[in-house]
Amino acid sequence: MTRRAIYPGSFDPITNGHLDIIERSAKLFDEVIVSVLVNEDKNPMFSTQERVELIQTVSRWSNVTVGTFEGLLVHYAVEQGAQVIVRGIRAVSDYEYELQMALMNRRLEPRVETVFMMSAEAYSYLSSRLIKEVFRLGGAISGLVPPEVEEQMKKMFTRE
Ligand SMILES: Nc1ncnc2c1ncn2[C@@H]1O[C@H](COP(=O)(O)OP(=O)(O)OP(=O)(O)O)[C@@H](O)[C@H]1O
Ligand SMILES: [Mg+2]
Repeated sequence: MTRRAIYPGSFDPITNGHLDIIERSAKLFDEVIVSVLVNEDKNPMFSTQERVELIQTVSRWSNVTVGTFEGLLVHYAVEQGAQVIVRGIRAVSDYEYELQMALMNRRLEPRVETVFMMSAEAYSYLSSRLIKEVFRLGGAISGLVPPEVEEQMKKMFTRE
């Protein structure tokens, strides 16, 4: 049986913390679908399509693909034939929300298991939101996001 995992998120934009989770998931599962949630955030920095393209550019593992979804995650997981949802846990603050979601998702769809991966130490304080905030205020974000993401953000900034 093909072990297929979904790694869902808003990825606005993808960070090195996300990439670390993707790389480790790609070793554990036969296939990983990084899945961008459409319309989660009302005012995203990048459009869904831009986020998908950035993820495709920076995640070059042969068993990793990128998709988008709307609506219930467990419906999408079943539709994609995935048995697993991967989520990253950074600090205790992630835990409560993630536990709640995992339990609700299990109730909705017991066939899909949520698997948590601890953040890499070096990226445990990283979030897309913080990256955008630091960047907008002129702080350095190199080493925290892939170079392609940083370049794209610089372009966005001059557009804004
Ligand atoms: N630095 C990181 N290390 C490990 N997991 C992470 C990291 N950043 C995000 N994740 C996990 O990746 C998944 C997708 O997260 P999401 O797209 O919300 O990213 P985010 O960085 O939290 O963005 P935002 O700041 O917009 O909430 C979640 O399970 C989240 O916990
Ligand atoms: Mg988040």
